[in-house]
Amino acid sequence: MPNNKVLVLYAHPSSHRSEVNQHLLTAAQNMDGVTVVDLYKEYPTYHINIDKEQQRLVEHDTIIFQFPLYWYSTPAILKEWQDLVLEYGFAYGSEGTALHGKNFFCSLSAGGKADAYQTDGYNHYTIRELLHPLEQMATLTGMRYLAPFALFGARTAQEDGRVDIHVNQWQKLLEALVAGNVNFDKASQVEKLNHYLETLDNEATQ
Ligand SMILES: Cc1cc2nc3c(=O)[nH]c(=O)nc-3n(C[C@H](O)[C@H](O)[C@H](O)COP(=O)(O)O)c2cc1C
Repeated sequence: MPNNKVLVLYAHPSSHRSEVNQHLLTAAQNMDGVTVVDLYKEYPTYHINIDKEQQRLVEHDTIIFQFPLYWYSTPAILKEWQDLVLEYGFAYGSEGTALHGKNFFCSLSAGGKADAYQTDGYNHYTIRELLHPLEQMATLTGMRYLAPFALFGARTAQEDGRVDIHVNQWQKLLEALVAGNVNFDKASQVEKLNHYLETLDNEATQ
């Protein structure tokens, strides 16, 4: 029996053309203890069912936003989802404690290469810096914020053979979350969750 339930909120406006996220989606859909919601498929006109989404949140321990980075942020439906679902009295305010103690992180792909997401790179900010509004959303709502799980250089990832590696890491990460085998202190401090998973691999081979 899975110990911890994981909710993946997947947001890709053109999933049929995806070379990265589509594979992560399929992998997550086939895992015990993981619920996947394809937001653009479920809400093509953005009419988000607030009660249903709040219920989903209550029933899970870890919440993941999965998306391709669009203009240094999430695709639009995830913003609409936040604006509607994270209501006062549910997610924040003196009685809004429904999310307290849960974990939250982003699983994202970016067209830009890793070295572009540096202070001296052409995007000027690290991915963790660019995600600060989501980090603060998690903090305000009482969730523990973990580092993002990220793939950079997404457009050449398939031809470079990096997609399979990333999907493999994703499966390991989801399995560890469900089994309760994640060191959350470490996972919140690294720049990318990928680094945390690499330390697990190293420990396993030592
Ligand atoms: C509207 C739009 C905005 C984008 N904005 C960014 C961006 O801000 N930074 C970036 O690195 N890539 C950006 N990209 C590239 C996507 O992040 C990239 O194509 C995607 O992560 C690839 O994943 P997929 O194969 O699953 O679609 C953008 C792409 C589109 C279509």
